[in-house]
Amino acid sequence: MIETTLAVREDQPIGRISPRLYGHFAEHLGRCCYDGLWIGTNNTQIPHYKGFRADVVDALRAMPVPMLRWPGGCYADHYHWRDGIGPSNQRPTRLGLSCGLQVEDDNSLGTHEFMYLCQLLGAEPYLAGNMGSGSAQELCDWVEYCNTTVNTTLARERTSNGSASPFGVKLWGVGNENWGCGGNYDVEFYAREYRRYATMLRHVDPAAELVACGQEDEWNTKFMETNRRHLELMDHLSIHRYWIHGGAEIDFTEEQYYALLNEAHETEDFVLRTSAIIQEYAGSNSRPIGIALDEWGVWHPEARSWGPDSQNHRTPITYEQANTMRDAVATAIALEGFHRQCNILTLANLAQIVNVLHAPVMTDGASIWLTPTYYVLQLHKPHIGATALPVEITHGYTQPAANTDINVVSATASVRDGQTAVTLINRHHDQPASVTLIASQSQIESAYIISGDRPNSTNDLNNPIRIQSANLQVNPDGVNQWRIELSPHSIATLQFRS
Ligand code: AHR
Repeated sequence: MIETTLAVREDQPIGRISPRLYGHFAEHLGRCCYDGLWIGTNNTQIPHYKGFRADVVDALRAMPVPMLRWPGGCYADHYHWRDGIGPSNQRPTRLGLSCGLQVEDDNSLGTHEFMYLCQLLGAEPYLAGNMGSGSAQELCDWVEYCNTTVNTTLARERTSNGSASPFGVKLWGVGNENWGCGGNYDVEFYAREYRRYATMLRHVDPAAELVACGQEDEWNTKFMETNRRHLELMDHLSIHRYWIHGGAEIDFTEEQYYALLNEAHETEDFVLRTSAIIQEYAGSNSRPIGIALDEWGVWHPEARSWGPDSQNHRTPITYEQANTMRDAVATAIALEGFHRQCNILTLANLAQIVNVLHAPVMTDGASIWLTPTYYVLQLHKPHIGATALPVEITHGYTQPAANTDINVVSATASVRDGQTAVTLINRHHDQPASVTLIASQSQIESAYIISGDRPNSTNDLNNPIRIQSANLQVNPDGVNQWRIELSPHSIATLQFRS
């Protein structure tokens, strides 16, 4: 039995956990946007809100989804926004291009539909602009169409398409992965092009928050160096992190189990390294530059044609994959790091929201099921918008098998209006943990746990609720102390009463 003691440091607030750290990503890829979210206004088989699946939207709203990035991904750098406005029967059918797929794309889910989805979900929209096959003028026009309060022809067109009020979109991606699918730019050229686009975009909407495309340390350093005299044109630097070293989606070994968790854990180091690079150039720049981790999550070999073990991919690749308790634990590990880095990490988007990659919600025909990742995100709801608090491990137990000094049991905490919430993780592959939690709180409001019989337990079409959250027994264990029993590979959230 693992025995450990954790203490919530109410006296050392870290910062606000922005709702933007709980963002999601909907790309026109596989069955994410079409089929997963959008089933069209004429669908008579599945209930929908003006074309968006009601069961999916209701589940997502309860998760929740504070921010949503669209329409890509790689798709964004082929996307021409004018194709997706106006009467839908007059919209062109284009080649839908992303990640090597070529599909018919009738553009029935366009700007107005996406804004309606955001309204249904209570999500802030984040639009990714085309810098691959588009132009600065095209992106300026999209910003004007969405945001201008001046009575221009584009504003009148927006009105005649159903929205007299501007959408007020703050977040704008200036390209996506332009070092690769977004045009194979070299970094200095991208940096100069970014400068040109950003200058023009700022003229159209000075309040727009612009997200520049970053990559790994070398690209990020050169990008900052090239634009060091124009840093006021940047609000966020985008980085992506997919965890790919965990072997198969379901039939993984214990070693691969820990390898994936360690990759999730290391996401925080990537954020810290990126922040150090930004700081080197930006210093006390009056307009702070944040980090946008606008794609993150697990990408199993069954769903990709590149990287470790990809010879085992499914044919054709649909970007769909199983989601197990291991993926749920990995999600919680990443979120712990997001909370710790909430002063430098300004937004994050799990990739992707429905059916594709690390999806919290899956559909098959009229059926829907929620993955273990869905439940883990829902467990984190009390932290969204609260103040992050550190949790000290006063007596730890480090992870076996993986040769690291990572603690098996860890936790994150937050406080809002005097009410503290603590989320604990037992990362151990097969051992339960007995935790003493020190928190200056006198009453438990609620306690829930997510666990599974095995690390590879999952929900699927035939077993849609094998994993779900359950009540957890928490016992007082002395003054300001609580005892919590965590099953192996589990996550639990306790909320204290103020
Ligand atoms: O999320 C799938 C793809 O991964 C996105 O389109 C791209 O940005 C990244 O390479």
